[in-house]
Amino acid sequence: MSVNANRIIRIFDTTLRDGEQSPGCSMNPKEKLEVARRIEKLGVDVIEAGFPASSPGDLESVKNIAGVIRNCSVAGLCRSLETDIDAAREALGKAARPRLHIFLATSPIHMEYKLKMTSGQVLEQAAASVRYAKKFCSDIEFSAEDASRSDPDFLCRVFGEAIAAGATTVNIPDTVGYAVPGEFGALVRYVKEHTPGAEKAVFSVHTHDDLGLAVANSLAAVAAGADQIECTVNGIGERAGNASLEEIVMALRVRGDFLKADTRVDATQLYGLSRLVTQVTGVKVQPNKAIVGDNAFAHEAGIHQHGVLMNRTTYEIMTPESVGISKNQMVLGKHSGRHAFEERLKELGFTVDTQTLETVFAQFKDLADKKKVVSDRDIEALVMDTAAKAPETWHLEHWAVNTGSALGASGTVRLQHKDGSIQKEVSMGDGPIDSIFKAINHITGREPELDLYEIGAITGGSSSQGETIVKISKDGRHWNGRGVSTDVIESSIKAYLSAINAMEWDLEAGASK
Ligand code: KIV
Ligand code: ZN
Repeated sequence: MSVNANRIIRIFDTTLRDGEQSPGCSMNPKEKLEVARRIEKLGVDVIEAGFPASSPGDLESVKNIAGVIRNCSVAGLCRSLETDIDAAREALGKAARPRLHIFLATSPIHMEYKLKMTSGQVLEQAAASVRYAKKFCSDIEFSAEDASRSDPDFLCRVFGEAIAAGATTVNIPDTVGYAVPGEFGALVRYVKEHTPGAEKAVFSVHTHDDLGLAVANSLAAVAAGADQIECTVNGIGERAGNASLEEIVMALRVRGDFLKADTRVDATQLYGLSRLVTQVTGVKVQPNKAIVGDNAFAHEAGIHQHGVLMNRTTYEIMTPESVGISKNQMVLGKHSGRHAFEERLKELGFTVDTQTLETVFAQFKDLADKKKVVSDRDIEALVMDTAAKAPETWHLEHWAVNTGSALGASGTVRLQHKDGSIQKEVSMGDGPIDSIFKAINHITGREPELDLYEIGAITGGSSSQGETIVKISKDGRHWNGRGVSTDVIESSIKAYLSAINAMEWDLEAGASK
């Protein structure tokens, strides 16, 4: 890892909070833990693990993460309420470096219409909540929600009160993605210069991408003196998303000469982490996405290809290897041994326990019998299927479909419940998938909305594995499932059943509280 000898900007990763709370990005507790481990390995300064007061499930999963992450701070979000702070401190009880992150809105629009509070009340509540939190935790971050639409002098007063009450970081969010870079940089500079006690606090920014300016705004803030950037892997987040972590890190790494700043992040972990987040959320990045998109390093135009062949720097400002895109061209197939397989897992960023390794290696061998070449994407899918799947309330024993242009479709499925009982069901439907999903609903007694059913090939070619992503919801709660198989009907069944299992796990956890 090469880090420029520049000012170090702290990276506060909020993939598991602002990212995860956005539509279609929900993750199960195992997936969150796996993502947290990989973000820690990346070398960020803070992981925001969730919003503990928002649900018992969120509290539990912040607890899990806080109990495992040791090399960076773990933050829990709270409104500026004692009950929220209590939930967050409970969740962070086992954290090596806990941070309580309190937020309260400071813009006239939010104070009048959302909070129904006067500016005086907001000032008082901000100070009181920080003072309360400080009794339990030395590391307190205070965020002025909708800061970019707030009166700058009022912002300075709120931050001044928060710092006097014990806040160690103050955060300037562009909550609605309204700011433009020159203006946002000027705001950061002004607030840093005019906040009483500013020298005692770290100044952070948190930007959203509604105008496509989240990264530009964060970089303008760095140029104006910001010390910390809040961002998410793949830029997932509310509405148009948050500032993308990989773009921030690489902009600072590649243009440290101009920005005079860098981060501690090991950029070679970026691609693997981006792939992991894509896998667990089922939300793909667009092919032309900077740093991690499929085409980010592809040179199509002849003139570009010629230039790159002469000297890569003609058209490449960074190498694919610098962000962790493997240069390993070794093909894995049915003759590959355990050692080569394990090495490839490590290169892809996975650290798996012995049992997972055994299972995934056996699946790899099966797959290699069906396909000549097993790609990195195939391997990622196998690992994620084993390592981060919700426990199986229902296990697929077997299935069959009968379909054709003249007849309707019928689907048969046989499932084993975790108590050992076996159930079989045959259903008619509008096509094979519909019939099988209906049969599964009938057996499990769950009838969720099917919000997304997406099927694709992991790699090209007719022997490619089919990957199915399913997103289901019920009463405003969302679950994802993923299934992989060389048979697309089977991958669909696996995906649907894994979403049902995630639902069962979540509802069971809620019921046992
Ligand atoms: O966008 C926002 O303002 C937030 C805060 C809670 C930091 O996510
Ligand atoms: Zn946000």
